[in-house]
Amino acid sequence: MQKLEVFGSNKLKGQINISGSKNASLPILAATLLSNKKIYLRNLPKVKDIDTMINLLKSLGSKAKFVKKNLIINNFYQDKKFAAYKLVKTMRAGILVLGPLLAKFGNAKVSLPGGCAIGSRPIDLHLKGLSKLGVKYKIDQGYVHAFAPKGLRGSKIHFSKISVGATENLIIAACLAKGTTTLTNCAIEPEVKDLTNFLIKLGCNVKWIGKRSIKIVGVSDIKQATYSVMFDRIEAGTYLIAAAITEGNLKIKNIIPGLLKTEIDILKKIGVKIITKNKEIKIIGNKKIKSLNIKTAPYPGFPTDLQAQIMALLCKAKKDSFIEEKIFENRFMHVAELNRMGAQIKTLGNKVLVKGNINFASAELMATDLRASVSLILAALTAKGKSTINRIYHLDRGYEDLEKKLKKVGAKIRRIN
Ligand code: UD1
Repeated sequence: MQKLEVFGSNKLKGQINISGSKNASLPILAATLLSNKKIYLRNLPKVKDIDTMINLLKSLGSKAKFVKKNLIINNFYQDKKFAAYKLVKTMRAGILVLGPLLAKFGNAKVSLPGGCAIGSRPIDLHLKGLSKLGVKYKIDQGYVHAFAPKGLRGSKIHFSKISVGATENLIIAACLAKGTTTLTNCAIEPEVKDLTNFLIKLGCNVKWIGKRSIKIVGVSDIKQATYSVMFDRIEAGTYLIAAAITEGNLKIKNIIPGLLKTEIDILKKIGVKIITKNKEIKIIGNKKIKSLNIKTAPYPGFPTDLQAQIMALLCKAKKDSFIEEKIFENRFMHVAELNRMGAQIKTLGNKVLVKGNINFASAELMATDLRASVSLILAALTAKGKSTINRIYHLDRGYEDLEKKLKKVGAKIRRIN
């Protein structure tokens, strides 16, 4: 099993180009199932979750190949409606094929994604919404067996809770439903907007009609299209925090600073200097990090996907900080590992008290989920000596060329086979 070795205490300096967004690419890939024509996708990140989604599409009969960095997907012969456990279990976003398969064929059998390290992660909101579009389903032996005897019909759907995945599944399904669908209390993460921009390019009739409301009028013809996926906000946020924690000086390129406003505001409050330009952010670290109380929240709030990383940074603050996790029930797996590096973080239900003034010590560590693992790397970048991070397949699910990018800006990091 591969490991990463990190030798800490280097200030990061230079520039990092941000890759395409994993969380935007996954629903866009699922949405290609709506079409029978060729679709060209650019700027997909080279990460394991994208391979898994492409393999899932291939198992459903899609033809997909990379030509240079562009993916060409052809669903002309795509005819299977069965998404197997072995593909969906490793990546929860596999459930996103349910909406498009039902929209296209009127029936589908898709594995339940199951729980994961950060909580039970149910799909009730996806299923309730699909029921409103006329879908009947039963759950049997770990699979959702769903069918729409009369095809999907437009409806009014109000999400009782904001969910990125449920919003995406329902948007995709409604594109081919007969009549008009309105979705209210939708997730408005930029990745959801990227999906709707893609669907509009395919000729779908999708319109944002309020802050959290979408109107979709079903169409029968999906066009051929070329689309370039947006940048990865979470990757960008992670490297901003990497600059802050190492008191470095980085230019984060290929991004839209406006979509990182919350993160930038928080980092400024913490005391780092940030200069935004058209498509880049310059960040200059500061020895004196201020403490802060942070709550994660749906966009435009502070993302749960950066909670572990900001926690590592707040260990360096001059005073104690509080972090409240409002999205997932069990997203503090990194706490025990950060504490093994000398942090003093106390968990109190869905809150943590982060003691400041910590100098991390190097250690042998275990990655537990995607974002938790990167927080350990951030801490290790500041620790004297060698830290070893095991189970790094979690990192490979979501960070393109992590070691390469970090090495380029001065980190001492290497992968051991
Ligand atoms: C997506 C992101 C993930 C991010 C999360 C929250 C992708 C591929 N993943 O995950 O990186 O951490 O948004 O920003 O884009 N919930 C229910 N019932 C449901 C669906 C969700 O109760 O049917 C709950 C979840 O358990 C969680 C909350 O709603 O507590 C938000 O989850 P959701 O927004 O759906 O997350 P994902 O789409 O799975």
